[in-house]
Parts: sequence; structure tokens; C-alpha cells
Amino acid sequence: MAQEVRGVIAPGKDEPVRVETIVVPDPGPGEAVVQIQACGVCHTDLHYKQGGINDDFPFLLGHEASGVVESVGEGVTDVAPGDFVILNWRAVCGNCRACLRGRPWYCFNTHNAKQKMTLTDGTELSPALGIGAFADKTLVAAGQCTKVDPSVAPQVAGLLGCGVMAGIGAAINTGNVGRGDTVAVIGCGGVGDAAIAGSNLAGAARIIAVDIDDRKLETARTMGATHTVNSKDTDPIEAIRELTGGFGADVVIEAVGRPETYKQAFYARDLAGTVVLVGVPTPEMKLELPLLDVFGHGGSLKSSWYGDCLPSRDFPMLIDLHLQGRLDLGAFVTETIELTDVEKAFERMHQGDVLRSVVML
Ligand code: APR
Ligand code: ZN
Ligand code: ZN
Repeated sequence: MAQEVRGVIAPGKDEPVRVETIVVPDPGPGEAVVQIQACGVCHTDLHYKQGGINDDFPFLLGHEASGVVESVGEGVTDVAPGDFVILNWRAVCGNCRACLRGRPWYCFNTHNAKQKMTLTDGTELSPALGIGAFADKTLVAAGQCTKVDPSVAPQVAGLLGCGVMAGIGAAINTGNVGRGDTVAVIGCGGVGDAAIAGSNLAGAARIIAVDIDDRKLETARTMGATHTVNSKDTDPIEAIRELTGGFGADVVIEAVGRPETYKQAFYARDLAGTVVLVGVPTPEMKLELPLLDVFGHGGSLKSSWYGDCLPSRDFPMLIDLHLQGRLDLGAFVTETIELTDVEKAFERMHQGDVLRSVVML
């Protein structure tokens, strides 16, 4: 039986979001209905609302979520009703070239639930990143659910569904940060701070945090940064070189998504160092570099896609590390809020006041 629950809808371009009754169908083959417990507010939700991603309004927002599987459809064996899970953007196929080559984050055949959730008048909803979790319940592909230790607080678990995983994964998966490395992280919002925490976890000896806002640099220290540079009044390339005996960092992680910070990241790395790009630029942005610098500098320039994470491997591991007290994921939760407060949370996010507001259900 389809169920009626509450969900946060973005009705049209730049219109305020509102809570409406949505209809969640029973799970079909390969699908699951998840009772959401917590869902973080991410920039991407705001971009959906602003029409910056596509025009498939109305959207059912929310995608950084954890919850309990309520029911599963035919053929689902990996998760069962009662399992505590973290949701990810899309299920991977396991059979394509990317999957078989051990790079499932580039899977060519990813999928979400086939059935659609709707408004009560039958209007089909587009779930943000194939999830739609600012809702009491949501319908996903069963492969979007990863079981983790249920003793973790739901507001902490949900964060791994997006920004925090992207940042930690940029350090431990894409950047392959190792013991003794010097890491520079440019941009210390939720993603950059997670990259700092990930670098710390990986055993980096020095972690240089770069931001234009002193408040962000203060928080970065609590996440594990050993040095901070305010790039509003200091050239970060010179500052990073100075802190590394003139060489540059082994790994530089860019978590802003702008041409000037991409450029800083490029020049702040050691010869043969690695630049990891996790900040997402807009389509019109361009980067111009002298080819001789590209050639002469060696090393590598990598983009990090969802932290190059494998949810089935990384989510349970990071939750275990958190429960053991070795990774403080709780530090990313600035506040917990009600489903009706998402619009306000967007404003606070815009002002740079929060790392994460998390809706509790
Ligand atoms: N130099 C250094 N830091 C900057 C600059 C700059 N020129 N411009 C902005 N920043 C800092 C901001 O002060 C803020 O601390 O970058 C940080 C960005 O943080 P958030 O806005 O909170 O964004 P976040 O959620 O961390 O995501 C960062 O990663 O995954 C991507 O789409 C995401 O592109 C976005 C980026
Ligand atoms: Zn695949
Ligand atoms: Zn997100």
C-alpha cells in the first residue's frame, strides 16, 4: 500500500521550499522504502532549489541521510527491514568496465528507484540526487542503502552520505595521503574540514588549512589543522612553500571550486606532489596555465568524485572509527533542526554560520 508522509518540496525556481504530503509507493523489485531518521542540509539542495542543477521541478530535497529500512521489494537480499543504513546517490552495477576495474564510483550503469514518488495530485517528484530524504520516508534502489553499526547517532551517520564523505575520501582515497605527508587544504567549509579530518586519520604530519575567513580557520584547527593561512591577506602559495622549506605540500586539496583556488592548489604542491580537486566549479569557469609549468611540475592533478568512495567499504569503516573515538564525525553537526526549518537552514548556510544543519525525523 502506498503511504502518505511529509516531504520538503522545492516547487519552482527560487521559490521557497515547503513541507507537503507526498505519496511513497511500496518498493518494487530491487527497491527499498527507508524510514528516514536524519538528513543533513547540503549546498546541492540549495542548488536544486535555485534551478542550478536542472529544471525538473518539483524536487523532493534532501540527500545526506540515514534511516531504518522499512520494507524491501522482490529480489533484495543485501538489506532487510530493520537494518540501519546510510543512503548514497546511486547504486552501482558491479558489471561494467569501471566496476570490474575497481572504480565503481565511475560506474556507467548506476541506478536509482524506478518507481516515482508523487504529490497527492499525482505530480511526479524528482528526488535530489536520486534520494529525496527531507521526508519521513523515501523510496530508493536497495543498492543505495549501506548497512552500518546502528549504535551511531543518526545525525552523524547521515553526513557520510555526501559532503563529509567527499572530503574524507578526497584525502584518503583520491589523494592517498600517507603517514608523514604535508597536506594543504584550500577552503575550510564542511568538505575542506572533512579533508583535514581525513588527512589527520591517514597520519599526515602537517596539515595546512587555507581560507579567507578566520572563523573557518579556527574550526579547521579543531579538525586537525596544524597550521593556518588566511589567504585574504597572505599569498597562500608562498605561505605553503615557506612552511615546507620552499618545496610545497605533498598533497593539496582544493575544496572551494574557483579558478583562483585551483591555480593556488596547482602551484602549492611539491614537485611530483598531488593536487586533488573536490570543489565543484561552474560551467563558465576556466583555468589558464603556462604549459611549461604543467609539464615541468610533475606529479598529478586529480579530481575527486564523491571522495572516490565505495560506500560498502568506506561507510562502515568510518562509522567504526567514529565509534572508537578516532574520528570525530560529531564535530560536523552544528545544529539539529525540524523538517519545517529547511528554508532557514539555507539562509544560515549562505551566511557561513554552520558546517551542517541536520533535519531530525
Ligand atoms: N580562498 C580560500 N577559501 C575560500 C575562498 C578563496 N578564494 N572562497 C571561499 N572560500 C572558503 C569559504 O570561506 C568556506 O569556508 O571556502 C569554504 C567553502 O565552504 P562551504 O561554502 O561551506 O562549501 P562546502 O560544503 O565545504 O563545499 C566546498 O566542495 O563538494 C564541493 O560543491 C562543493 O564546491 C563545493 C566545495
Ligand atoms: Zn558498473
Ligand atoms: Zn550533498
